[in-house]
Amino acid sequence: MAEGDPEGAGPPGAGAGASGTAPDGGERLQKVLAAAGYGSRRVCEELIADGRVAVNGTVAVLGRRVDPEHDRIEVDGHPAPTRPGLVHYLVNKPRGVISTAKDTHGRPTVVDLVPPEPRVFPVGRLDADTEGLLLLTNDGELAQLLTHPRHGVEKEYLVHVAGGAVRPGALRRLRDGVELDDGVTAPAEVSQPEPGVLRITIHEGRNRQVRRMCDAVGHPVQRLVRLRIGAVTDRRLKPGAWRPLTSDEVRALYEWGG
Ligand code: URA
Repeated sequence: MAEGDPEGAGPPGAGAGASGTAPDGGERLQKVLAAAGYGSRRVCEELIADGRVAVNGTVAVLGRRVDPEHDRIEVDGHPAPTRPGLVHYLVNKPRGVISTAKDTHGRPTVVDLVPPEPRVFPVGRLDADTEGLLLLTNDGELAQLLTHPRHGVEKEYLVHVAGGAVRPGALRRLRDGVELDDGVTAPAEVSQPEPGVLRITIHEGRNRQVRRMCDAVGHPVQRLVRLRIGAVTDRRLKPGAWRPLTSDEVRALYEWGG
């Protein structure tokens, strides 16, 4: 069969193996991986040859064909974003736009900022008053990975607070964990680039978490902007604008959560 023959003219389904669900033909695994951002087909062949790629839980060999719609593909143990039809948008949410898919009061929502088809939903939420980066997607698996309550993806915020410079004791509390009514917050990264302006990185996604943390140390939030989600950031994306994530960005998000 076509094992070891990456571009070879193996018969349809060559390399599908006992656990494979690829229909006759299928697509070459290296082509599917390359389309998902793992590098050139050549690089993807090396990933396969090195035993780093699994299909439906079994290490794949060169020549493997897959059905990207149904086969579960993993690289280094992380799910690979290879299913067709998935879209992933990065939106810079302006203040006043709400981040549910539909608002009962007819207010503008983040979903109105992106193409109507295919239908997408926001990954997590930003408060109406919060600005900045939000992901919208139809990729339920990625959304679940990123919003895991305890090990969710890192999110970095720029926070303007009331009350002037935040004292070292309050900064330490923000970093170590603040008692909120739904429990103590996990350790956070917190810096104060200028008096009254904080950069806070958290990986939990509790409701109004940053606002409640700052309230708890006596510095209510005046302005809150999300600057980063995992490795995804974009200083040039204007408020109200969107762009598709690159395949590298999608892959990095999967690796973060997977
Ligand atoms: N934390 C908040 O308090 N609000 C947000 O919108 C996001 C994080």
